[in-house]
Amino acid sequence: MFKVPPVSARRLQELLRAMPKAELHIHIEGSLEPELIVALAQRNDLPLPYASVESLRQAYAFTNLQSFLDIYYAGASVLLHEQDFYDMARAYLARAAMDNVAHAEIFFDPQTHTARGVAIETVISGLHRACEDARSELGISSTLILCFLRHLSEASAFETLEQAQPLLGKIVGVGLDSSELGHPPEKFARVFARCRELGLHLVAHAGEEGPPAYIWSALDVLKVERIDHGVQAVHDAALMQRLAQDRIPLTVCPLSNQKLCVFPDLKNHNLRQLLDAGLCATVNSDDPAYFGGYINENFTQVFAATNMTARHAYQLAFNSFEASFASNADKRVWEHRLKETFERFVEHD
Ligand code: HPA
Ligand code: ZN
Repeated sequence: MFKVPPVSARRLQELLRAMPKAELHIHIEGSLEPELIVALAQRNDLPLPYASVESLRQAYAFTNLQSFLDIYYAGASVLLHEQDFYDMARAYLARAAMDNVAHAEIFFDPQTHTARGVAIETVISGLHRACEDARSELGISSTLILCFLRHLSEASAFETLEQAQPLLGKIVGVGLDSSELGHPPEKFARVFARCRELGLHLVAHAGEEGPPAYIWSALDVLKVERIDHGVQAVHDAALMQRLAQDRIPLTVCPLSNQKLCVFPDLKNHNLRQLLDAGLCATVNSDDPAYFGGYINENFTQVFAATNMTARHAYQLAFNSFEASFASNADKRVWEHRLKETFERFVEHD
């Protein structure tokens, strides 16, 4: 690993913004800004439950995951046509490119849309076209991960997989999201086994609000390659050892954890503890339109609150490439650019 010299606090904040990074935990429906929700509601002639962009933004005060999900699903209901999904993903990718995201692996929730009569092909085609255009026009690489909603049944997940079958060439893997407590990973053991047979990559949300036991079963029953969130792992020493030993990536989302009251304050966040214990932790935005910031805001705020160093910054960016499902050739190119960025900053400090 490249030996990272210390840099001043001011330069560190600049470095966090400038360094190339991968974003591996972003729900595309959670990138819908209030302005776009209002614009899409008008374009699609749909009534809006809020009078203005401002009153919509004011509703974004959450006490836990469920209080957020209720508003998040309501926001997503303005998405009807292929162009709506395209516009949403294109807006996110343009914003991510500004934060020097070289590669994004984007979650989407098809059941939220198919339940309203939107065809899964409409969803995937719009998102995929945005990813392709962003690659050629913005130079950002991106892929899609289909998430099953864990508050719905196993049968509904199987039905979704069936609908997605002709479109599997447009996605890189599957995930598991929505209400965690009361919906352990085991509920989807057979669905994930089938996805594994189909050659899809596997990830799951676990240990956001739920106990370490959910992280164990995501690993051992679902056989996932990454854990989304996973911050509750610190309460189980044997699990911490397993995650460190096997270099299982955790896609951590600091501002999400703060806004959903997983930690009382950002200064109590355990990201530094996870890194210092040798885990492959990464920083991500989760639902940036709802949680007060895109990926660079997550980096700069959590670093300011927890006094992490340039070495931590390098490790987090390096981890994000290591943890991605991109090709080894792409990873080497991004890691080289990362090293160059650090060398440039240190020279001029
Ligand atoms: N957790 C679970 N489900 C979600 C989240 C999250 O943070 N964001 C969007 N769906
Ligand atoms: Zn999430």
